[in-house]
Amino acid sequence: MTSNVKNNRRITLAWSGASGAPYGVRLLKYLLAAEYEVFLLISSAARMVLATEHALTLSSDSDTAKETLTKHLNVSTKQLIVCGKEDWLSPVASGSAAPRRMVVCPCSTGSLAAIANGISDNLAERAADVVLKERGQLLLVVRETPFSTLHLENMLKLSTMGVTIMPAAPGFYYQPQTIDDLVNFMVARILDHLGIEQKLVPRWGYDQRK
Ligand SMILES: Cc1cc2nc3c(=O)[nH]c(=O)nc-3n(C[C@H](O)[C@H](O)[C@H](O)COP(=O)(O)O)c2cc1C
Repeated sequence: MTSNVKNNRRITLAWSGASGAPYGVRLLKYLLAAEYEVFLLISSAARMVLATEHALTLSSDSDTAKETLTKHLNVSTKQLIVCGKEDWLSPVASGSAAPRRMVVCPCSTGSLAAIANGISDNLAERAADVVLKERGQLLLVVRETPFSTLHLENMLKLSTMGVTIMPAAPGFYYQPQTIDDLVNFMVARILDHLGIEQKLVPRWGYDQRK
């Protein structure tokens, strides 16, 4: 880490195996466009969901996955660091170097449970644990329906610790016409919470006025 300014533009993004892969891919695109250095963590189940929902097949090898993603998004490779699930030497594994912000999008109820209980059995869980202990900003874009009492308890536990629980539940009040519009809704709300400027979706009470 060379300066605070640089640290402000660093973020950890974890893709877990919940439905909603397009949210994660679009969020990555906008974080890179906002010139963030992104540490990307992809679970095995997330790779399965990506192939199913986004027709994107990613290798478990980090370098190969990075190459596929940068081609898919047509972005520069320098800002994107894809980490392996047991890459304990990654900066995100330690409070001394980890970005202070992390988003899990989409977030499975399995990852939710692991984070709520400090399991830290893979790099994504460890990275979230680090953000919690360092009192950073953690956003979980949880996706399941319906929620069990256990899911709700885990969300409440984390919410009381300052974690933002942001269910993947796009609104319909701005009359979305396409799936892209629905994806943009969620990504826009996430970017808002991260304080990153976006114009993806009209703002209620402002942009609707004729
Ligand atoms: C296509 C597909 C869709 C899934 N959707 C969900 C989901 O919406 N929510 C969820 O909690 N788990 C979902 N799962 C199950 C998780 O992937 C599974 O529990 C996995 O162990 C989560 O591990 P991870 O959190 O390490 O990625 C889905 C799995 C697949 C293959």
